[in-house]
Amino acid sequence: MEVVILPGEEQIAAVGADIIAQHVAARPAAVLGLATGSSPLRVYEQLGRRIAAGDLTLSGCSAVLLDEYLGLPTGHREAYRQVIEREFVERVDIDSTRVHGPDGSASDVVVACAEYEEQIRAAGGVDVQLLGIGGNGHIAFNEPGASLAGRTQARMLTEQTRRDNARFFGDDIDAVPRHCLTQGIGTIREARHLLLIALGSAKAEAVQQLVEGPVSALWPASALQLHPHVTVLLDDAAASRLELREHYLASAEHRLAGQRY
Ligand code: F6R
Repeated sequence: MEVVILPGEEQIAAVGADIIAQHVAARPAAVLGLATGSSPLRVYEQLGRRIAAGDLTLSGCSAVLLDEYLGLPTGHREAYRQVIEREFVERVDIDSTRVHGPDGSASDVVVACAEYEEQIRAAGGVDVQLLGIGGNGHIAFNEPGASLAGRTQARMLTEQTRRDNARFFGDDIDAVPRHCLTQGIGTIREARHLLLIALGSAKAEAVQQLVEGPVSALWPASALQLHPHVTVLLDDAAASRLELREHYLASAEHRLAGQRY
């Protein structure tokens, strides 16, 4: 796991976009794993700017989402497929029909989850998976207590996550769905490179557990310690509780020439 502490969101977005561009340069048909929420937004903007400037194209890529709410009416503004359409697809040159997410309107969620796993497998697996992290250590919608080897499945959101996400639903927690479909941690861990972004002090404890804590279902993101290729991009506030903070800063300062993320 490489921990990179950067001064602010713009620098984080630049490194995040560099990493995605590096994957696309190596494999123009790369499969991109997308996250929703606030953390990756600046990366999506950066990618859009690079494409507009002619420095990058995602035209050969496909993309898969981490998760989706269950039970929102089709086309609801906050359904993650809609959010990704606005925040990502409309900014870049990817073909919208090659962007897939779990089917939050499925009548049989078990079948929908199995089909989604098959879709990811058929695409050849995810080359680079963007991740945010919940204040309680969730990744995708794998809340504390989730299996660290789980596959795509229906899950219930915690009160805390629904409270955190109420900001997207007019601050009305009752409008936030109680259930979701989410890639499991076992599914996420099959992506070849995991790129996690955390911003702000509300993430500091979860980040400390992710990077330095014991691997535990209490902090699902800690399972990433078992993945061979993880890059964690943090601002100062999110990094503030790391015990080895000075070492991570020094490692970033003394990166080897040409060292790749
Ligand atoms: C979203 C997702 C969630 C978020 C997490 C952090 O697809 O899977 O795990 O990444 O809740 O959300 P933000 O970035 O809004 O703080």
